[in-house]
Order: sequence, then structure tokens, then C-alpha cells
Amino acid sequence: MKIDPNQQNNNTQPRPTFKVFNRWDVVAKGWYQAGLSTDLKKGKARGVNVSGQHLVIYRGESGEVYALDGFCPHMGVDLGIGSVEKESIKCFFHHWKFDNEGRCTDIPCLKESNSKIKNQNYAVQEKYGMIWVYPEAKAPYEVLEIPELKGLELSSTTDKTYKRSCHYHITMINGIDPQHLSTVHNIHMDMSVDIDASEKDSIHILLEGETPSESAFERVIKKLLGSRYAYSMKYQSACLAGLTVLKGVKLFGRWEVIPTLHMLFSYQSNIEGETLVTPIYLTKKRNFLTDWFLLKLTKLSFLFLQGEDGEVYENIRFSTANLLPIDTPVTKYIKYVNSLTPSKWSKNLDADQALGIRNRSEVNV
Ligand code: FES
Ligand SMILES: [Fe+2]
Repeated sequence: MKIDPNQQNNNTQPRPTFKVFNRWDVVAKGWYQAGLSTDLKKGKARGVNVSGQHLVIYRGESGEVYALDGFCPHMGVDLGIGSVEKESIKCFFHHWKFDNEGRCTDIPCLKESNSKIKNQNYAVQEKYGMIWVYPEAKAPYEVLEIPELKGLELSSTTDKTYKRSCHYHITMINGIDPQHLSTVHNIHMDMSVDIDASEKDSIHILLEGETPSESAFERVIKKLLGSRYAYSMKYQSACLAGLTVLKGVKLFGRWEVIPTLHMLFSYQSNIEGETLVTPIYLTKKRNFLTDWFLLKLTKLSFLFLQGEDGEVYENIRFSTANLLPIDTPVTKYIKYVNSLTPSKWSKNLDADQALGIRNRSEVNV
């Protein structure tokens, strides 16, 4: 049965509110994806919605990508329908021109224009075949790199973006909730969970344990993959997650021929208050066929994991009322999310909307 958990039980099961965690009105500072690099050709502009913020992104004649707020500071026309001139964008309506830092450099109807008008510009990075935007003119750090892939040349594919009805801060719990590994995924492992939250904007989680050997199937897996199993995650700004699976496994416990798989998930909310998740599969660049095969394998392993508990994130009204000591990774993660800084893209929602409750009046009728 499909329910809308956001509109249920609000009086008998009140939910806690946090500074950043699980709030639709807060957009924390971090890198948000704004589409594929190949979709933005030289000299072209596009209006995009990034984390609920309307932006114009354009590729200057030099090949660099720039991002500005999307509504023209004159009368608010969408700059996405404007045209690119060298490294500037010209508004379609009255031809005001803005350079890549948002300064208005030309107002054609004025003989001399030394305008002080400025449009907000944003830091942009192209990585993993995608365009990333940070909600400030300068970003203090780069788009997340998976530690195991740092400095390597990579091959990547971006999968289709999918939606979730709960906030992405909740879906990100999936990777660090140790209890559900056995109850949902049937992985009966005594896993140690190590959380390193020493970096300012990211958190690193390592889960490690003995490969189980209770059932016949588990014993086959143990023979095949060896006795130790580990996977790790790096979360950046609670909107990007890098996941490494099959860490340190050895064929028949001996040979290091089983490839470690890497995937990245970019999260943001849209203007309708839904979560958008974009999976990106990554591998060290080898040759076309090997890369193609490994990226397919990465996708399959993601679909397998996702298929087992996707439904949880469509029917959840997250609460922290009765967390246990075993839930410590979750508690630490929530603390980390609340330490993030809200950006200027945060929205002015009322308290109900911020919790995802729409049409409260209808609920109470
Ligand atoms: S609305 Fe853009 S120049 Fe007038
Ligand atoms: Fe899961």
C-alpha cells in the first residue's frame, strides 16, 4: 500500500526537527550536479534547476562552463534562453550582457554603461562527465573523490536520475545502518563500523567483517571470495556519496583478481520537494572493453542492492525517538549533517513544508 508518511500521525508521533538534517528548506553548501557535460556544447546556454534553484549554465567560447542565477536582474527573464558571447551571456529580452562573474558589462540602450548591477555567480567544476555547481562564487573544496581512485584516470557512466519521496538525508542512511544488513539483505556478518568524521565537509565510513558461513550459499561465497569482506563510503556535504564494494576480497581467498567496484550518488531535492538521485559508476581507466564490462558489473551490483530495500524509502517518516547503541553510526551521521552550513539556496518554507507536510489543512479535515 502506498501511503504518504509525511501527512500521517503528526499529533501522536511528533517528529524531531534538526538544524539541517531531513529538512526540505535547507540546502547545505556542497556540490550539486547540473547535467551531463556533453549536453552543453561550446557557445550554448541552458536554464537548469539545481537543488530547487533556477540557474543558467553556459559554455563560453573557451570551453569553460559558468553558472549564474537564472533570472535576469533587469526584468527577470530566463537567462537560459539568452545567447553566449565569448565568455559572457546576453539576455534575450533587452540584451543586457553579464560576464562570467555576473557583472553587467553592457546595457545597449544606454550610451555609456558603467553599471554596478551584478548577478550572483557560482563555482563550477566538470568531473565524471558531469557539470557540478557549488552555491557560492568560490568553493572551498573539490567534488568528492573516492579515496581508492584518487589521482587515477577514470572511466565513468552516468545512470538515469530516479526519484524518492523521502529526503535524501534519509536515503543516505541505507549505507550505514548495520542492523538492516542482516534483516533485509541477509548478510549475517558481524561487521565493525569505523566512522571518521575528522574532515570538515565529509565523513568516511568503513564496514568490515568475516564473510559468513552459516548457509550453504554463504559457504560457497566464502570459498569464492575469501574470509574477509569490507566496503567503505565517503559522504561529502550530505549530497554526494562515494561507495566502494568488494574491498580486499580474493578469489578462493588467494588471488586478488576480483575487481573492487566504485559508485557515486549525487543527491538533491527538486522544486516539488522530491529527492533526485543520480548514480555514476566509476572505474580506473584500462581499455574500452574492460572498462565497459566493469561499469556494467558496477551497475548490476547497485541494482541488486537497491532492489532489496528501495521500498523502505518510499514509506518512511523518519524518527530518532528510540535509537539503540547499535544505531550509533546513524546518530553520528545525523550529527555530521547538522554540522553542515546552509547555503543561500535554502528556501523560505513554513514549518510544515520544511518537514515535507503539504496540505496540512486537508489532513485535519
Ligand atoms: S529582462 Fe533581461 S535585459 Fe531586460
Ligand atoms: Fe540497504
